[in-house]
Amino acid sequence: MDGSGNTGPMTMQKPVYVLFVCLGNICRSPSAEGVFRRAVHEAGLEEIIHIDSCGTGDWHIGKAPDDRAQQKAHQRGIDISGLRARQFRASDLEHFDYILVMDRQNLADVRDVWRQNGGTEPELFLSYGLSEHEEVPDPYYGGDKGFETVLDLIEEASEGLLDEIRRYLA
Ligand code: 4NP
Repeated sequence: MDGSGNTGPMTMQKPVYVLFVCLGNICRSPSAEGVFRRAVHEAGLEEIIHIDSCGTGDWHIGKAPDDRAQQKAHQRGIDISGLRARQFRASDLEHFDYILVMDRQNLADVRDVWRQNGGTEPELFLSYGLSEHEEVPDPYYGGDKGFETVLDLIEEASEGLLDEIRRYLA
């Protein structure tokens, strides 16, 4: 202690709130929450970066992630079994500093609310990735391969997002 009450460089850090949004909140956005949570943990930033996910639709409120999403995440050492779906709400635009949507339909839906309410402007999550992909494709009606693609795209964009937040915190 130096007498100033400052116990270390990170203790005064303002928290950063990150929200992932998809349609159902049972496939892509809980996968993104799990992957990004791990990246944040590995970076030792879990006290500072707070993460949540939600869906624009209401069909799956209160449900655990899709079994296929849980299984594919588990194969990469990520446990998303405890997550429960909730619906996006206008107040999320006030609370979260980053609102990261999976596809253009999610962007249009959240942007409609943002135009009415203001707050944090939603962005495509993959704008933080390096690949040419702009959207995380909805895997719900497809096979296992789609869930692998979701994780590949999300893992890459998570690294870019973490780099961006580190710059923001610096
Ligand atoms: P998600 O996938 O948006 O990645 O959670 C979906 C889950 C459910 C439905 C659509 C997409 N659905 O139509 O019920």
